[in-house]
Amino acid sequence: MTYGGSEIVTASYGPKWRMLRKICVLKMLSRTTLDSVYGLRRREVRESIQYLYKRCGSPVNVGEDMFLAAYNVITSMLWAGTVKGDERDRLGAEFKNAVGEFTELGIQKRVKVLAGQFDRIFEAILSQRLGNEKEGGRATVEEDGEDGKTPLTLIEIKALLMTSSNTIEFIMAEMLNKPDTMRKAQQELDKVVGKDNVVEESHISMLPYVHAVVKESLRLHPPAPVLVPHCPSEDTLISGFRIQKGSMVYINVWAIHRDPTIWENPDVFDPERFMNSNVDYSGNHFNYLPFGSGRRMCAGIAMAERMVMYSLATLLHSFDWELPKGEKLDLSEQFGIVMKKKVPLIAIPTPRLSDPALYK
Ligand code: HEM
Repeated sequence: MTYGGSEIVTASYGPKWRMLRKICVLKMLSRTTLDSVYGLRRREVRESIQYLYKRCGSPVNVGEDMFLAAYNVITSMLWAGTVKGDERDRLGAEFKNAVGEFTELGIQKRVKVLAGQFDRIFEAILSQRLGNEKEGGRATVEEDGEDGKTPLTLIEIKALLMTSSNTIEFIMAEMLNKPDTMRKAQQELDKVVGKDNVVEESHISMLPYVHAVVKESLRLHPPAPVLVPHCPSEDTLISGFRIQKGSMVYINVWAIHRDPTIWENPDVFDPERFMNSNVDYSGNHFNYLPFGSGRRMCAGIAMAERMVMYSLATLLHSFDWELPKGEKLDLSEQFGIVMKKKVPLIAIPTPRLSDPALYK
């Protein structure tokens, strides 16, 4: 699609994909690596909270702020450096814009222009921060202290950032639309974390209701509504249908997640349906596939789960949220390779913790 089609998402199954996937899963996105960079996630999420605290009582763009946090976590994991101050705001807005346009469907003709835009943005970051090499349009970046190369091209990082921040934006919007769900999540957080404390990643496993909220939002608004095309390497029979070797199989997860023969009241946001349920992200429950299924399923589930759960829990625990006066909530979706909210969520935070020092 871009950068010569050499990236993991578009690589066909074979030795090259296996190599890229192995680096991704073992070196970048393994639980051990993720544990070791908790400090980065914590720093960026705390920075967002500090930023939001300064804007308490005023409308803020929730998705943009979460995008910047995810952006700094991933870029600092990959490039051992973050973007700060005015530069952060400028590059963040420019990058999110370019990503948004790229991930809308039917933009083939724009791909070249946008790929150039991504190049410029990343070149600015790379040359300014790290002076790393760039080969043939594909950034090859040394990992922190190691000599491996990142298997993710710059163009892929776009979707990874959008998926997490769009998920948080949809969850917050759904909860604002159903304030009892927000209250219930906050009660759980108060019980587990307390109002005299800040959320840590270690609290996440003790938050079943917040988990259910995330799962329910991923059901209603899967960030990848149509999976990356799967391609069987041999003829396959599924439910009596013969799928020929080499076919491009498109799986409409969005439609499966809203199928009334599978889900009761499928269009209703109801986190309770995931309480005491064994449906998970493994891709083995074919009625629920937000991260896909099989060999090509998302390589970043552990990272995404941590980032979304930790950021969301912190947003809900730190602030009460309401819509600006007279504003109506618009939950409509804009379809694309990555689905996003058609109208960005603007909401007003109010502090709810016992001590202003907890917002530092
Ligand atoms: C809420 C967040 C996310 C969702 C819902 C999501 C979902 C998906 C889906 C549906 C696929 C295609 C799977 C298939 O076709 O079976 C995919 C692929 C992929 N995702 Fe994610 N993703 C998320 C975040 C991330 C993050 C944060 C990373 C890495 C930092 C990541 C890395 C990847 C990679 C590398 C692939 C390609 C795997 C391959 O082709 O072997 N994802 N993701």
